[in-house]
Amino acid sequence: MCNLQGKNIVVGITGGIAVYKVCQVVRLFKKAGANVDVIMTKHATEFVAPLTFETLSNRPVVTDMFTRSGHWEVEHISLAKKADLFVVCPATANIVGKFANGIADDMLSTTLMATTAPVVVCPAMNTNMYNSPAFKQNLQTLKNRGVFVVNAGSGFLACGDTGDGRMAEPEEIFESCKQILCPKQDLLGKNVLVTCGATLEKLDDVRFVSNFSTGKMGSAVVSQALKRGAKVTVVLARHQVEIDGKATVVNVETTRQMLEETLKLVDSHDIFVMCAAPCDYRPEVVAQSKIKAEDLTIKFVKNPDVAQAVGKIKGDKFLCVFSAETDNGLANAKQKLAKKNADLAVLNDVKHNQVFGSDTNVVTFVTKDGHIDYPQMSKLDVADLILDKAVSK
Ligand SMILES: Cc1cc2nc3c(=O)[nH]c(=O)nc-3n(C[C@H](O)[C@H](O)[C@H](O)COP(=O)(O)O)c2cc1C
Repeated sequence: MCNLQGKNIVVGITGGIAVYKVCQVVRLFKKAGANVDVIMTKHATEFVAPLTFETLSNRPVVTDMFTRSGHWEVEHISLAKKADLFVVCPATANIVGKFANGIADDMLSTTLMATTAPVVVCPAMNTNMYNSPAFKQNLQTLKNRGVFVVNAGSGFLACGDTGDGRMAEPEEIFESCKQILCPKQDLLGKNVLVTCGATLEKLDDVRFVSNFSTGKMGSAVVSQALKRGAKVTVVLARHQVEIDGKATVVNVETTRQMLEETLKLVDSHDIFVMCAAPCDYRPEVVAQSKIKAEDLTIKFVKNPDVAQAVGKIKGDKFLCVFSAETDNGLANAKQKLAKKNADLAVLNDVKHNQVFGSDTNVVTFVTKDGHIDYPQMSKLDVADLILDKAVSK
């Protein structure tokens, strides 16, 4: 049950024919007990008068940056801060383009840029606009940043065309917003262990070997698992991203430290997502003094395999491993799945895609039943798909 009582919803309305449908969106939020503030673009007011939304929301409608409201708050900042959720519907091609490209030239675009609340956009436009490369690219940029999109449907459009671009129905928009405000708690009571980052192996006191992993995928799994109600522990090596403060963090440096700390946690955890990129090799000896340029031959020895060690003792608990490959990806991922006794291998093609440090990824899920190729998606969405697999095991 999702209680919207007292939640602050900011509804941004832009200039499309679907503005009339937003009356029902506002009504649904009000009926559920939420507080609704409406911001309309100048063009939106051509379609439905602000008075309609003022009456439905019982609040003044904001249409202008520079109208003085009688109180001493800076309106776009106060609305941006106040929002528990920001919904833009209908979202014109124009606002999607502005939001994607950081343009803040009116009240709505400025407030959108200033908010840290989850943002939902509900595009509506003519089919050719909807299918145009410019719009698609801008929408993808927003998705990659974690903006939620309620996709437009297909049907008869006001311009007389039939095709994609029809704004989702108010009930669907309302339900999507509810799911974002009250995310599913299907990991409640579960303990999730995530390994994250790149281990490093010292050569001497000034140098080390490591790899390009930034920890972005691990951080995404941590965030999504917490949202879904799990308790999360992260065994965290060198990283370049923020980790949600609600997770318990165990800091490590080397692969052997990661192995030791991870193995201590296997019994107390239910789900293992091995996002870290541990160094497979380490120097046989760490030089006591700085290695001189003349002594550049370094002998490496193999490190233990952290995921495989977990796979050996996990019993029937869920284990997800990652397979970053340049060649023969599918074959290698299948081999990894079996060798590590994993339930899921997530294959990344690092030759053809920007994987390290990117907000998005193109992955293939490999299980003993086969494989599924996914299109490009945000790492947050990849994280959710992994957790869905864990839940359905
Ligand atoms: C009758 C009419 C209907 C329109 N419908 C849409 C629409 O559904 N989607 C859209 O992106 N633009 C639509 N437009 C164009 C936008 O209003 C225009 O791009 C405007 O600059 C959008 O400004 P805004 O995003 O600040 O509201 C429509 C224009 C008119 C005159």
